[in-house]
Amino acid sequence: MDIKGKRLLVIGGAGFIGSHLVDQLLKEDVGEVIVYDNFTRGKKQNLKEALEDSRCKIFELGGDILQTDILDKAMDGMDGVFHLAAMWLLHCYDFPRTAFDVNIRGTYNVIESAVKNKVSRVVYSSSASVYGNAVEIPMSEEHIYNNDTFYGATKIAGEHMFKSLGVRYDLDWVGLRYMNVYGPRQDYKGAYIAVMHKILDRLENGQRPLVYGDGSQRYDFVAAEDCARANVCAMKSNASGECYNVGRGIGTSIKELTELLIDLCGSDQEIQYEPEGLTFVTNRIGTIEKAEKELGYKWTIELEDGMQRLIDWRKNHIAELEMRREEEKVSL
Ligand SMILES: NC(=O)c1ccc[n+]([C@@H]2O[C@H](COP(=O)([O-])OP(=O)(O)OC[C@H]3O[C@@H](n4cnc5c(N)ncnc54)[C@H](O)[C@@H]3O)[C@@H](O)[C@H]2O)c1
Repeated sequence: MDIKGKRLLVIGGAGFIGSHLVDQLLKEDVGEVIVYDNFTRGKKQNLKEALEDSRCKIFELGGDILQTDILDKAMDGMDGVFHLAAMWLLHCYDFPRTAFDVNIRGTYNVIESAVKNKVSRVVYSSSASVYGNAVEIPMSEEHIYNNDTFYGATKIAGEHMFKSLGVRYDLDWVGLRYMNVYGPRQDYKGAYIAVMHKILDRLENGQRPLVYGDGSQRYDFVAAEDCARANVCAMKSNASGECYNVGRGIGTSIKELTELLIDLCGSDQEIQYEPEGLTFVTNRIGTIEKAEKELGYKWTIELEDGMQRLIDWRKNHIAELEMRREEEKVSL
């Protein structure tokens, strides 16, 4: 779809990836970017710069995907919709009923409303969690659903609702399976990513960084800005009815990641190994060719540069970081 002059709705747009997406859409020649978010996890300060652009607004009547009449109102007249709203992995683990309501029923509501309002195209945030632990590395989009988390189950359900209802109602959609996303505005709640803040916190306090287990757990870390760009490419593409990996196709172990952070901080601390805690997936690296070929998307941010951006962001957002630390204490 040509997004020039178009009206776009970003559901979950005040969140981590969603706010980067809003920023990138505003760099394009779009007509309007409306954020629909209930702020359970999203933050207004994530949209601070975006809201200075007169084309960007937070939908003022509400922002919950479970409130279908308000959702319908927000969808009215939209050309394209990005659906990023979801409960996160650990929340789905603790509160599966809420996860069912938001991730499954809420996603159904988004599809139903998009069909009703004749939206041209929807980009859905799925997750590499649908694959579970790798049976084959790297994982292509054909990799089996080896998932055994409820979060992954909700994302599989989401993909299949899009697939079946997309055919039934002729709705164009694309699903994006992000690998492990990191970057400015990330919080302390992610199952895999929070480790970066915690390592940096310790290094800044002159303490040894903690690694749980032997540090061999290997993930495909991808910058949030790249994931946002994948959304823009997906909206602009003609692809439909398919899911795509969004990663770098490069595995980095937690030990390597920690060593990189030690290096970037100019520290001489050594890793302190601790017994392994709750771990969901220990090995996950995706192929990137399908997204490159069909969406015209390829990652651009090297891990080292991305980590440096995260370190710089932390330095410039000390009060915000403190608030995110506090929130984590509250949520535990
Ligand atoms: N961050 C990652 O590593 C990662 C990896 C794979 C997939 N994903 C998926 O990408 C999407 C965005 O992830 P994120 O990291 O930006 O998460 P996030 O929690 O920062 O963003 C989700 C947003 O949805 C909002 N939201 C939650 N429930 C809602 C509801 N009922 N109605 C309206 N809004 C609601 C939250 O307030 C938040 O702003 C999610 O669907 C997530 O499952 C993320």
